[in-house]
Amino acid sequence: MVTRRRMIGAALATGGGVLLARTTLRPAASATASVPDAEAAADVAAAHRHSPGADAPDPGPDAGPALVEKFTTALPLPPVLSPVSTDDGADTYAVTMLPSYARILPGHRTPVLTYNGAFPGPVIRARSGRPVIVRQTNLLDDAVSVHLHGARVPTESDGGPMNLLAPGATRTYTYPNDQPHASLWFHDHAHHSESEHVYRGLAGTYLITDATESALPLPTGRYDLPIALRDARFDASGALVYRMDDPLNRTTILANGRPWPKVEVAARRYRLRLLNSSNLRFFSLRLADGGPLTQIGSDGGLLERPHTTDTVDLSPGERADVVIDFSRYRVGTSVVLTNSLPPGPAEHVGQVLRFDVVRSAADPSSVPDRLRTLPALGAAARERTVVLKVEENPGAAPRGLIDGKVYDPARVDAAVAFGTSEIWTVVNANTDIPHNFHLHLVQFRVLARNGLPPGPEEGGLKDTVRLLPGESVRLQARFDSYRGRYPYHCHLLDHSAMGMMAQMEIG
Ligand code: C2O
Ligand code: CU
Ligand code: CU
Repeated sequence: MVTRRRMIGAALATGGGVLLARTTLRPAASATASVPDAEAAADVAAAHRHSPGADAPDPGPDAGPALVEKFTTALPLPPVLSPVSTDDGADTYAVTMLPSYARILPGHRTPVLTYNGAFPGPVIRARSGRPVIVRQTNLLDDAVSVHLHGARVPTESDGGPMNLLAPGATRTYTYPNDQPHASLWFHDHAHHSESEHVYRGLAGTYLITDATESALPLPTGRYDLPIALRDARFDASGALVYRMDDPLNRTTILANGRPWPKVEVAARRYRLRLLNSSNLRFFSLRLADGGPLTQIGSDGGLLERPHTTDTVDLSPGERADVVIDFSRYRVGTSVVLTNSLPPGPAEHVGQVLRFDVVRSAADPSSVPDRLRTLPALGAAARERTVVLKVEENPGAAPRGLIDGKVYDPARVDAAVAFGTSEIWTVVNANTDIPHNFHLHLVQFRVLARNGLPPGPEEGGLKDTVRLLPGESVRLQARFDSYRGRYPYHCHLLDHSAMGMMAQMEIG
């Protein structure tokens, strides 16, 4: 454990600080009129003038920690979207991407990029077998692509890196939800700008439920909390500072868009759906008193059986579904959720949020020993190896490579036969930089990590898997849902923006 943590820390410390020259993102003046709050609208242009870009002078260290008193603001829950129509057997939503303001740091309004004005984005609730249609309108001045991470969707609705939605344009994404329950998320995927877009707010939550999940006596309703964790860097005016490959300076930890919030809980069980929506930061989460965390799910829904642990690790893009039973605390007790991974000062990045146990409550919920049955893996038709590497070139921009190549949307890197199952061995060829690996379209199973069986936390369905320096992971997936081209990539978004992405064609 210690070795592993030291490895990530060292890796992030030495892998940071590599800048790529790129243009600044500035929301369009025309989009100003769309900001819902009139007062905010008047100030959008002014505020964006201090939104620093790669060409701006360095704004100095992250001002976030100095502007915040920890554990004073309440954890907000993202708004749940209501459909504009539920006709014809589908739920239809209308979403507008627009620049707005978020109250992140007390006394400051931070310019952000949003889905419907919410930072982070809203929650869409879906049911297996019932399609969701999302009409997305882009009022930003950058092209975007809306990707539903972890979903089984036709390629035209996947939101791939080249399938762009131009400024001012509207398009419809259709999600069949032809898959079991899972805690998914949606985020921007426009090639080369996904990293900055997601950093500035283009990320939301998408929860699919089904009969298997809803039959279980797990905590529900107000006791089921989606929590997106990430880091950020601010300047003294409260604006987000985005620099490519800047992990050392992102020392403000946000939970649902608020720095180090407090979460008032009753002394009973809660289900926490944790998402790491950071560009680069890995979390290793623990309760400060070392108390038990019952992990019940991962990226692709519930595990077969709950797994009790004191630590939950999340690399960028991964999710963990965790039940905490606060009845073991006396009312009046507080317990901090901590993070043991660098980079950054432990007094800041080592703390995430605080649970304050404020009342007692009846608790009809429980965590059964058996949660679901996973589909059988079946025999694999073929095996392949995928090698991830960031190549640092003195005096030049680093390149993100998969199998020695930078992403080329015109190239097919893996031709997969429709209807078959494959085993992929994914290798991190860097000895000092962590990566992870995400496959679009499928939920896979981890067969082995460094030649050994994976831990129980990786025993369920996954779409993103961590690869610490030098590690290898064997995974198996079945490609039997849709044909077409889909990307696979490192989900450290700065790395995919540097080209660490490739493409499979299922046909
Ligand atoms: Cu979450 Cu290809 O992305
Ligand atoms: Cu994805
Ligand atoms: Cu990477």
